[in-house]
Amino acid sequence: MINTKVTLAGVELKNPVMTASGTFGSGSEYSEFVDLNKLGAVVTKGVANVPWPGNPVPRVTETCGGMLNAIGLQNPGIDVFCERDIPFLKNYDTKIIVNVCGRSVEDYCQVVERLASEPVDMLEINVSCPNVKEGGIAFGQDPKALEAITKEVKKYAAQPVIMKLSPNVTDITVMAKAAEAGGADVISLINTLTGMKIDINRRTFALANKTGGMSGPAVKPVAVRMVYQAAHAVKIPVIGMGGIATAEDAIEFLMAGATAVSVGTANFFNPYATIQIAEGIQAFMEKQKIHDLGEIIGCVE
Ligand SMILES: Cc1cc2nc3c(=O)[nH]c(=O)nc-3n(C[C@H](O)[C@H](O)[C@H](O)COP(=O)(O)O)c2cc1C
Repeated sequence: MINTKVTLAGVELKNPVMTASGTFGSGSEYSEFVDLNKLGAVVTKGVANVPWPGNPVPRVTETCGGMLNAIGLQNPGIDVFCERDIPFLKNYDTKIIVNVCGRSVEDYCQVVERLASEPVDMLEINVSCPNVKEGGIAFGQDPKALEAITKEVKKYAAQPVIMKLSPNVTDITVMAKAAEAGGADVISLINTLTGMKIDINRRTFALANKTGGMSGPAVKPVAVRMVYQAAHAVKIPVIGMGGIATAEDAIEFLMAGATAVSVGTANFFNPYATIQIAEGIQAFMEKQKIHDLGEIIGCVE
């Protein structure tokens, strides 16, 4: 009997495959392609205390093996989210992880407090978005600020807290340890890498925001390295992401030390990616006679 279940801070997922925030809406956009019941968890688009309009367009552009985005965390705000998106997701037998964004510590705590009475399983705190001027990345690049915001959020959280880390730092282990010291239950990484593209015909930036966050298959080796380093620096579980497009990619992250994985940009070029990855992991387990994912999680030392 093969066991694809994994546990994150006491929350059991039927398999380790989750969606990456911002690439899957809140599930409904993909539900005609993907049976959400087959996913370990759905991670929603970032939600703030009030609606955010996002950045001016153009805000996405393709790169070699990936893309740049500068959406700027456009979202309808927590009220609409609670009325519309949570009830939709509750129709499915999957875990619900709500990604939270904010401009100040108070903004984050307001959303976290509001979600305390909602039927969601975990919270993922985005302190690593490179595309907003205030908040976000300011917390994700300073270990003291990261530890402090983690402590504050934990005071208001009823659900386990995942702190989502930025790869735009010199030493990821310092940030992973800061999140753990602040009381994070889990860490997730990587968010996008800050990049830039020039449109040579228009002689200007491809994105109105000038810079954007790079994601997709091209970033995977950087992500695997950072997940490996972070997993060895802390005792709490790690969720790995960055360029995962196939089951083999996902298994690399598990072997590097991730307990679960998130699939992002791949959803845009293959809407079936999450399901194919979950099935591919199971097929790999059968072929290699792996009975429990614990046998391969962090197996490379
Ligand atoms: C269009 C787009 C929107 C995103 N929005 C969010 C977001 O709202 N919150 C967040 O924490 N991460 C966001 N991300 C980052 C992804 O969740 C993920 O960390 C990153 O893209 C790396 O994974 P990937 O290479 O599989 O896409 C976004 C990424 C993309 C491409």
